Amino acid sequence: MNRHFDVIIVGAGAAGLMCAMEAGRRGRRVLVLEKAGRAGNKIRISGGGKCNFTNLEVSADNYLSRNPHFCKSALARYTQWDFMDLMSRHGLSWEQRDHGRLFCEQGAGAIVDMLLEECAAAGVGFHYDCDVGDIRREQDFSLHTSRGEFKGTSLVIATGGPSIPRMGATDFGLRVARRFGLRSIPFKPALVPFTFPSGFLARVLKPLAGISLEVRASCNGVSFREELLFTHRGLSGPVMLQLSSYWNRGDPVHIDLLPDREAVEWLKAEQGAHPNRHLKNLLADRLPRRLAGMLCEQEFGDQPLQAFSRRQLEHIGATLNGWRLLPGGTEGMRTAEAATGGVDTDELSSRAMEAKKQPGLYFIGETVDVTGQLGGYNFQWAWASGWCAGQVA
Ligand code: FDA
Repeated sequence: MNRHFDVIIVGAGAAGLMCAMEAGRRGRRVLVLEKAGRAGNKIRISGGGKCNFTNLEVSADNYLSRNPHFCKSALARYTQWDFMDLMSRHGLSWEQRDHGRLFCEQGAGAIVDMLLEECAAAGVGFHYDCDVGDIRREQDFSLHTSRGEFKGTSLVIATGGPSIPRMGATDFGLRVARRFGLRSIPFKPALVPFTFPSGFLARVLKPLAGISLEVRASCNGVSFREELLFTHRGLSGPVMLQLSSYWNRGDPVHIDLLPDREAVEWLKAEQGAHPNRHLKNLLADRLPRRLAGMLCEQEFGDQPLQAFSRRQLEHIGATLNGWRLLPGGTEGMRTAEAATGGVDTDELSSRAMEAKKQPGLYFIGETVDVTGQLGGYNFQWAWASGWCAGQVA
């Protein structure tokens, strides 16, 4: 068995597969080492099985990173249109949903198959169920694995982030970075539901489990307008997942339950027009009935509108437009769709993803400190960073 390659890629996920096919096309002898029994497990479960593979609107503003400019070069060099071209060449089509999100009509597995076909055409080799242990560098990189030792002139780390550990996700990339003297930023769960103290959960949130509605939610100066979902464990839905990436322990979140109206003005007008109407019935015109009932029982009281003073109406209106909640935490890596943090971008070239201090060593995808918002941005980063490394590794 040949044990020396031009490029060894650790991780057959979105970024690793893209890098492998690009490097293989350049005539490089490429080997991909994957811990799992098959490629692309996170692609397969993404987007409810349909893979939200990119977004029509991609810009650096959709990413979190200590250096918000780092991702610009890669995103400009390999765009969402490039990935859509690739899919078209393979006869794959997509469906556009809200916020410019694109999903594969043939299912997530079809995207993995497409990438594997491209890799096969480019002569890329794979070893699955392969645990990588020690990595050393003399002239070349030498990897000790459960399938023996392999040597590579270039080494690409594409092992993703630690979210969903039951799928085998780890912080392997950061350990390799440390091993080679590169700085990194600790991983933190992102795109993850919020949890709440047990009393508040039982009294307020659990009775509302299953309700969803469109809200505007904000924290730390960032706000999103999307669906909120009440669950038995806390708050979820796209709007909460988005916010969680920007949230730090102890931060309150504010939820505007009536994002299209100035609630105080509306309440005052209704008080004048329908003084005998009960608050709960009025709120139920604009909010799910169970939510309107809970707010009246727990927060506002339920009386005819005329019984509320001006100050009380102002308080109710302010709460409807900015319900302040204090999460106890998040569900953590167990359910997070991504993780912020990763290899510090100051250590890498933004054009090639190559370590400045270690020529020939590359980090791509979620291992790098670039994390996308919800909506296909994480895959677009994986394709773009993998493509860039694939041009030079
Ligand atoms: P990725 O995790 O894809 O691949 C890393 C690979 O490395 C894995 O195959 C892993 O087994 C392997 N590996 C890890 N350690 C190893 C080791 N030591 N040795 C060998 N191999 C090792 N994003 C998006 O844009 N749209 C979406 O719809 C979704 N949906 C979604 C749903 C769910 C449930 C999750 C958990 C995540 C998403 N995401 C998403 C995020 C997206 O899946 C993620 O950002 C990309 O898969 C990251 O691509 P990478 O190639 O960097 O890592």
